[in-house]
Amino acid sequence: MKCLLLFFACCSTTVLASNLHQLLDFHEISHINSIQNSWTAGPSKLAFGKFQRRLMRSEHVKPHKSKDILDRKVLETIPESYDVRDYWSQCISIDNIRDQSDCGSCWAVAAAETISDRLCIASNGSINTFVSAEDLLSCCTSCGDGCDGGYPLQAWRYWVKQGLVSGGSYESQYGCKPYSIAPCGQTVNGVTWPKCPAQEEATPECVSHCTSKNPYSSAYEKDKHYGLSAYPVGRKEAQIQSEILQHGPVEAGFLVYSDFYRYKSGIYTHVSGQELGGHAVKVLGWGVENGTKYWLVANSWNINWGEKGYFRILRGRNECGIESAVVAGIPDLTRNY
Ligand SMILES: *[C@@H]1O[C@H](CO)[C@@H](O)[C@H](O)[C@H]1NC(C)=O
Ligand SMILES: *[C@@H]1O[C@H](CO)[C@@H](O)[C@H](O)[C@H]1NC(C)=O
Repeated sequence: MKCLLLFFACCSTTVLASNLHQLLDFHEISHINSIQNSWTAGPSKLAFGKFQRRLMRSEHVKPHKSKDILDRKVLETIPESYDVRDYWSQCISIDNIRDQSDCGSCWAVAAAETISDRLCIASNGSINTFVSAEDLLSCCTSCGDGCDGGYPLQAWRYWVKQGLVSGGSYESQYGCKPYSIAPCGQTVNGVTWPKCPAQEEATPECVSHCTSKNPYSSAYEKDKHYGLSAYPVGRKEAQIQSEILQHGPVEAGFLVYSDFYRYKSGIYTHVSGQELGGHAVKVLGWGVENGTKYWLVANSWNINWGEKGYFRILRGRNECGIESAVVAGIPDLTRNY
């Protein structure tokens, strides 16, 4: 310990912080990998600057109350494994991973991803777009606190009431309102993005016009896509599966513990570390590996994280609350198309 202290004492604070980080990193990673073999931990590729993406407060992903859950029919036949991408590969959003960057916008990003998929599926591929996370993040005042977190169900309700315009990633500048916060702190597809700012990103300002840097930009109002309904999905495994089979991916909230940041591959279960907050993601299927059941999930920490941006998490045991706060909705195909 003395040695360590001496070593740290002569380093600048940034080097000190990063060395200490690496040491703790190494310790936690070997611990996780030694006590179980369902998933593999490794150093985070979101490593320089801040290695952790911002979360929300745990209350943003509170479990649904039974009285709020509609009694929907569960399908009689549910396949052992299912991946929405195998059936709707023509939908541009279906196999897309987004990047929330240094903003606690997971609630809006996961809603936008899921809504995009559902629009494409419900329209049998004729509405094939990226719905704007930016529109939701910046304009939904009833959703919560923008980059400081929000409520997934409120996001879906906003889609029903106000509609959402198109908008892809910052890099793509796709659609009416692409994401305005650039990726940070990692190298993606050969592009090295700057360190994440020391100051957390502020919630972008809500504007009622298109903001894309692309010369093409449709009229804001004309570009709105609306939902018909928004609802909490039942907490039972079969209810979630039936919802996905009938209408496409769902948005799920869950609790993040520090070991989740180390996830590299496999089927995640919480094994070490403290609860850090809430997170929201897109669930797009399920399967079984070596007898262990899992959900297939898209994260929004870009493609370097986990299994090319995706992760798998234990299914059937409400791991980290992933089955208790699932939300979804149905697109309104009669409005504005
Ligand atoms: C399943 O078994 C294979 C081969 O032994 C192994 O590589 C993989 O990590 C296992 N997966 C899980 C989730 O245990
Ligand atoms: C959906 O689209 C596919 C391919 O474009 C087409 O073959 C199929 O008939 C369509 N289904 C319906 C119900 O319209």
